Amino acid sequence: MAEEKKKRDGFGSKLGIIAAAAGSAIGLGNIYRFPCELGNNGGAAFLLVYLAVVIFLGIPVMLSELVIGRRSQSNSVGAFKKLAPKSAWPVVGYMGVLCGFLIFAFYSTVSGWIVEYIIKAVSNSFDGRDLAADFKTFKDLGWRNVIWQALFIFLTGIVVFKGVKNGIEKCSKILMPLLLVMLVALAIRAMTLDSVKTEAGLAFLFRPDFSKINGEVIIRALGQGFFSLSLGMGVMITYGSYVKKNDNLTSTAFSIVLADTLIAILAGLVIFPALGGIVPKNPDFGFIFNVFPKLFSEMPGGYWLCIFFFVLLAIAALTSTISLLEVLVAYISEELHMKRQWATVVACVGTMIIGSFASLSLMSDTPFAIGGKSVFELMDFVSSNILLPIGGVLIVVFVGWKLGKQKFFEEVTNEGSIKASFKRIVFFIIRYLAPIAITIVLISGFIKKEEDSDNTTQPVPTEQIQSVEDTIQ
Ligand code: PHE
Repeated sequence: MAEEKKKRDGFGSKLGIIAAAAGSAIGLGNIYRFPCELGNNGGAAFLLVYLAVVIFLGIPVMLSELVIGRRSQSNSVGAFKKLAPKSAWPVVGYMGVLCGFLIFAFYSTVSGWIVEYIIKAVSNSFDGRDLAADFKTFKDLGWRNVIWQALFIFLTGIVVFKGVKNGIEKCSKILMPLLLVMLVALAIRAMTLDSVKTEAGLAFLFRPDFSKINGEVIIRALGQGFFSLSLGMGVMITYGSYVKKNDNLTSTAFSIVLADTLIAILAGLVIFPALGGIVPKNPDFGFIFNVFPKLFSEMPGGYWLCIFFFVLLAIAALTSTISLLEVLVAYISEELHMKRQWATVVACVGTMIIGSFASLSLMSDTPFAIGGKSVFELMDFVSSNILLPIGGVLIVVFVGWKLGKQKFFEEVTNEGSIKASFKRIVFFIIRYLAPIAITIVLISGFIKKEEDSDNTTQPVPTEQIQSVEDTIQ
């Protein structure tokens, strides 16, 4: 045990932790999902609710995961074994590993598409094309998707293979500032194109109509917050285990949440001014590939903007897949006692195999569908709508009721050496408010998904694309 501890890798600096954890949080969830949710759920009113969610729930849940990780100095399964020996709590960790595996499998499918679209952007293949039809044809190619997906998993593997400090931290410290600069540049470009559209876009984003706030909006904001902050499946437990004993966990949690939220708003500042405040109803991942190339290619300097945009998406996706893989690798290497490098190979090959079913399940004549739902949809549904929220509830219940106030305070104050002024209120939220709120999201998310599951991963209907395209003209 002692020997194991000595060898354990970790983050070298606080900036490194924040870059890596913000890298996990910032992903397709910010750049594609957030603007879409906002667009469909009342614009600025949604933004207000979302801000309340991330401040009052996001920070406490994030802090809970970091506390579990750092206190146990262990992967997401080992953490519960150490902190609650001989109990059923490690099941939460196993659920997280399974969830990480499922998210990685379908997330890498979409990440693979980004590779294809970078190539398309470079070879200028968008002009005058029917993008929705092209996207469908591409998905039907099946194996081509699988190859790009495998390439993306391989890239992720290279970073994780190198370790926490030399791989994940180094890579995030370069990629995250790059992503920020690219997004700011895109936002400036989008906002200086057409003053009428910019004004409409900004009003939509920042002028709230309070009458639009209802139960549905709150639930949506909660779901979005969890997915976007990578909460509920052990990413932050695993990353927390690499945080040094003298780092301030509360300010770390705060910085991650702040960075994630600012990037989501920045993505809104690219998209809404460009679209004049309109997004398609119930869009899916196809939205990125059907609408955006058109949007950018019709702007002056569009060729470069388009390449820029897809590279930015790839960076955002990569820093998220790195964290998903790290959850698997930390578990396999520490719990199954495998060398870290071998664990990386095993996790990558496993994801390539399972992930290929996700990719192939989106072909029109796919055999990989169960009860009319593609394997891709099922993976998305089970992980985002079931495992993440259940994991979230169990994590806060664990900290609030099992770990307890004393140990939580010790961890957030670094054994009394720093103040952590909000610790009492944060603990109250962890103990009472968060479990109740997340349970509500879980149940209603489930009911809602049943109702509108038909829209989740279907291509965006042509009329909707048309209406967005009209606003682009
Ligand atoms: N937070 C990531 C995003 O916004 C997705 C993710 C979820 C990554 C859960 C890791 C764990 O895209």
